[in-house]
Amino acid sequence: MKPTCYDDYAKVFDLYSNVHLFPQNLDFIEIAAGLLAPGDRVTDVGGGTGMFTAELLERVPWVELTFVEPSPPMMEIAAARLPLGANLVHEPLDGALIAGLPAQKLFLFQRSLYSLHGELEPYRELARQIAERTLAGGHVAIYEMPGPYDMELAWEYYSVNREVLGISEEVLLGTWPVMEAVFREFNSGIREGRYTLFDRASLDDVFGGAGFDCTHEQGTTFVYTKA
Ligand SMILES: C[S@@+](CC[C@H](N)C(=O)[O-])C[C@H]1O[C@@H](n2cnc3c(N)ncnc32)[C@H](O)[C@@H]1O
Repeated sequence: MKPTCYDDYAKVFDLYSNVHLFPQNLDFIEIAAGLLAPGDRVTDVGGGTGMFTAELLERVPWVELTFVEPSPPMMEIAAARLPLGANLVHEPLDGALIAGLPAQKLFLFQRSLYSLHGELEPYRELARQIAERTLAGGHVAIYEMPGPYDMELAWEYYSVNREVLGISEEVLLGTWPVMEAVFREFNSGIREGRYTLFDRASLDDVFGGAGFDCTHEQGTTFVYTKA
């Protein structure tokens, strides 16, 4: 996505990720929290504004968090929200970054795995690097995007639920073009092969091939566990 797009996106990100409209995001956090015990290390990859990371920390405040987010405006919001002790990494995830981490109990990809690469081969390499830095019995938890956006349906959903968002019609009309641009960019990224939308088969290829087994699947939520 173009960096300028992220500047505006970061400002409206939390608003449009409303947990009442999209409870699946919190369901995912509940599942992730259930995988963690006191002192465990967790790396949140592409954590955005940290809104859901903060939800995770409310449930499991005793984890050692690494938060990876390359976008400056997203990270600025996250840094103000996350605890001082968190390891904030302001770079895209890559092999060197992973190799520098101590072994983790959990790697989290909430709505972010799709955005890393346009082809499976670099994901296969990434999964092998992650496997090397995952404890035996540790996990990779993925909440994948459900699919390309239907722009008309998306607009209808937000406008019908404007009061749930707690904003005026003016604010909705003023912020919607930002989201529209983000959704269109996502759709074209999938269509043009810049992004990869995963399903069970491609996740089995990538993470199964790196020594993980799928231990949980529900909708677009998947947990892969290292033997
Ligand atoms: C849709 S947001 C999801 C944010 C958060 N996980 C959530 O669900 O609210 C995707 C995030 O992935 C980040 N991202 C994109 N490419 C990345 C990369 N190569 N490594 C790490 N994060 C990346 C983006 O900057 C963006 O903040």
